[in-house]
Amino acid sequence: MLRGGSFVSGSHISERFGVSRAAVWKAVSALREEGYEIESVTNRGYRLCREPDLLNEARVRAQLEGHPWRERVQVLDTVDSTNTRCKLLAASGAPEGTVVIADCQTGGRGRLGRSFASPAGQGVYLSAILRPECEPRQLTHLTAMVAVAVLDAIEELTGLRAGIKWTNDIVCSARKLCGILTELSIEAETGGVQYAVVGIGFNCAQRPEDFPEEIRDMAGSLFMATGRPVDRSALAAATVRQLARMNGALLTRKAEYLQRYARDCVTIGARVRIVRAGEERYALATGIDADAGLCVRYDDGTQEVVNTGEVSVRGMYGYL
Ligand code: BTN
Repeated sequence: MLRGGSFVSGSHISERFGVSRAAVWKAVSALREEGYEIESVTNRGYRLCREPDLLNEARVRAQLEGHPWRERVQVLDTVDSTNTRCKLLAASGAPEGTVVIADCQTGGRGRLGRSFASPAGQGVYLSAILRPECEPRQLTHLTAMVAVAVLDAIEELTGLRAGIKWTNDIVCSARKLCGILTELSIEAETGGVQYAVVGIGFNCAQRPEDFPEEIRDMAGSLFMATGRPVDRSALAAATVRQLARMNGALLTRKAEYLQRYARDCVTIGARVRIVRAGEERYALATGIDADAGLCVRYDDGTQEVVNTGEVSVRGMYGYL
């Protein structure tokens, strides 16, 4: 059976696989149940019209042939949070490159204690364990490098170069397509990094009406951004490859990644509102420093690097 191609007769399939015509029919019915669209025409046979967008281990691993992390990738239908699962695995000794991917999260977590909506069939929720040998202060740029890796994965798959809203939102046309949550565990005795878990949540297939009303004006999906459905397993595999590449560059090619981060960061050059400890200030974002902090210039001319707190970018997410 060829996708969108020619018909293959039932007798050809039964001969090829040494099974009865009834078994072929049963297999076709089972595939249709799974969401495959298969046309059947008397005297011509079967034709595959459309494959469902399944996110599963076989599909993801098939696209990671020869990759060192391939056997460490697990894909689950449902999990509370892929970050939480990775932290448990890391604490019990799972190696670097262990990746947990889910079709659905029941307790997806975002930054600042927020939740991250993770409905089945519409996104990719992926976390990876890294074990950099360094101190926590050497990893202030980790989330920024992950953001660049995510942009590279999206571009590899869709051709779209999305943007970054400092620090860690991936955006297109002022809508958030993807969020990143990085968590570190520190060795009590040495103060060194025990492991890092980087978690990435992509909105893939949603249409505006699929988002809860409170985020409908600011949320977007890869489908909305490109006008085309995205193959979620291929996106997951591309993300694993880009994360592994980024991990290899983590302590040696920081400047290069941060340069690329700055190039794609939509916050630079924008007017920003900084809310810190309940106090609100306005400034112009002027650049990124060597640790991925946001350089800003306030209206009174003073300059600062912002590393914490919340930054809203004018024209995005309801700040007008
Ligand atoms: C944010 O935008 O605040 C960060 C969202 C991060 C969501 C991802 S989905 C995969 C991983 N598992 C989680 O529970 N969170 C991250």
